[in-house]
Amino acid sequence: MNFNNIISETTKGLTTIIINRPSKLNALNEETINELHHAFKTAEQDRNTKVIIITGTGEKAFVAGADISEFADFSVAEGENLASKGQALLFDFVANLSTPVIAAINGFALGGGLELAMAAHFRIASDNAKMGLPEVSLGVIPGYGGTQRLPQLIGKGRAMEMIMTAGMIDADTAHKFGLVNHVTTQEELMEFSQKIASKIMRNSSVAIASAIAAINAGFEEGENGFDAEVIQFGICFGTVDFKEGTSAFLEKRRADFPGE
Ligand code: COA
Repeated sequence: MNFNNIISETTKGLTTIIINRPSKLNALNEETINELHHAFKTAEQDRNTKVIIITGTGEKAFVAGADISEFADFSVAEGENLASKGQALLFDFVANLSTPVIAAINGFALGGGLELAMAAHFRIASDNAKMGLPEVSLGVIPGYGGTQRLPQLIGKGRAMEMIMTAGMIDADTAHKFGLVNHVTTQEELMEFSQKIASKIMRNSSVAIASAIAAINAGFEEGENGFDAEVIQFGICFGTVDFKEGTSAFLEKRRADFPGE
């Protein structure tokens, strides 16, 4: 598939997806959301992809939000449909991907941009990054999971304040809040993110997929994370990676996981 708004490239087990609408600060229009869905789906199905990094083009923005020009005249039903379709195609889709997704936040991550970063499995920010959910300043609320994922990540009180004030926080504050795991210089952001990706790649991809499923289960309504962990733990015992990992340890050699 040819993309108009994103770039997706795969080298040495790493797929990097770059949102590429710099003239609109990488704002997420419908076409970009569809392209991102396709790129994430393709990367997950590609056995050579062990980790995905999502970032934005340029030095100014990761994503400055959903594209406001597309929904300014929507009705109640259209608004609800926009949120549910977006969550299914991109935000929940990314959060539940079996391949690890790292958001490398290279500038503004606002509204849908921060929601996309929060849907990723964890986040790394450059020191110029600014994050916020400014939706109430537009008369709307976050609709791509922001009211749920922000309190999960930084606590209810801080999330309430960020959403109510529509304010932005800088990278150091985001780090202090636990919203991002690391802060780097702008120049080092991708290299640092790639280093973490290569650490992940050394491990069993099927075990990592089970870990993602178990961790996410604890945040799902009606699911018991401990029960999910028991099931996923059991599943690991049927994998080739488990045989390889335990044999390698006992034979005092480095494991070479086939990812099966
Ligand atoms: N949707 C649509 N277009 C957007 C956008 C968005 N979320 N964010 C930025 N853009 C567009 C601007 O309209 C402008 O387009 P134009 O040159 O055709 O007029 C272009 O991107 C550059 O943005 P601009 O506002 O001129 O840059 P800035 O440096 O002055 O300000 C921001 C940067 C991020 C503070 C500002 O763009 C902004 O507040 N964006 C909206 C953030 C938001 O509310 N997001 C949540 C949406 S639900």
